[in-house]
Amino acid sequence: MLIDTIYTRRSCRNYDETQLDEQCLSDIHEYIETVRRLNPDIEFSYDILESSQVRTLMPWNAPYYIAIYSKPEKNYFENIGFIFQQVDLYLQSIELGSCWVGMGKPKKDKLEEHPDEDFIIIIGFGKTSQPKRNSEDDFDRLNLKDISDTEDERLLPALYAPSAMNSQPWYFTHNDDGSYNIYRIKLNILKRKVVGYMNNIDIGIALAHIYIANATTFDYYYDDQHQELDRYTYVGSFNI
Ligand SMILES: Cc1cc2nc3c(=O)[nH]c(=O)nc-3n(C[C@H](O)[C@H](O)[C@H](O)COP(=O)(O)O)c2cc1C
Repeated sequence: MLIDTIYTRRSCRNYDETQLDEQCLSDIHEYIETVRRLNPDIEFSYDILESSQVRTLMPWNAPYYIAIYSKPEKNYFENIGFIFQQVDLYLQSIELGSCWVGMGKPKKDKLEEHPDEDFIIIIGFGKTSQPKRNSEDDFDRLNLKDISDTEDERLLPALYAPSAMNSQPWYFTHNDDGSYNIYRIKLNILKRKVVGYMNNIDIGIALAHIYIANATTFDYYYDDQHQELDRYTYVGSFNI
């Protein structure tokens, strides 16, 4: 179950080179067709590449990478984070390792196959002997009270979400009608240059964990009447 994987997943940086069989790759393609989108109107695409078709700045390599592209429309980074975090959980639920990689991109000939979309990010994946963490205590995360206006166990799935450089840029507030708002931390210009757009992906990733934990009730929307906060930028609201 993907919901269990939220509590056992980790970023994997240690792969073995064994090839995946055709059935496994076709199951991954099939799963990607079924995932929920945050904004169904935004077109996106992806390729599954081998490591020789990708350049990264990492000292490790994964045998496969999902290279993700999107039309650059409102909240497209959040949409990609939301869609592909479901894929990240799926990969780990079938005992593969995976890791989002901001510091890398497909080689030029591959990028040129997507002239009408922006390249967004890659996710490395493949077989590993260490697909899971040992326990929830392994998570290096903020406390629940740091990511929300009131300590709320229903936000635990978001607490455990992966984020670029473990920046955990999300903040949640509660409305009187039981709905929630999600905000993204404001960064100074320097930090914005380093992790900037990746923090937008992170917000979609946290929302994916909330969706997976509340699959039948999750409803996401933009509230024109939202409250402004000094340290955070409003992104959206949801019911669970
Ligand atoms: C958008 C994004 C980009 C990331 N980029 C990299 C990267 O370039 N290299 C890397 O080793 N890990 C990368 N990570 C993984 C994070 O470092 C990792 O999620 C975070 O440290 C929390 O650890 P965990 O995923 O094991 O829980 C990225 C994660 C996200 C969500």
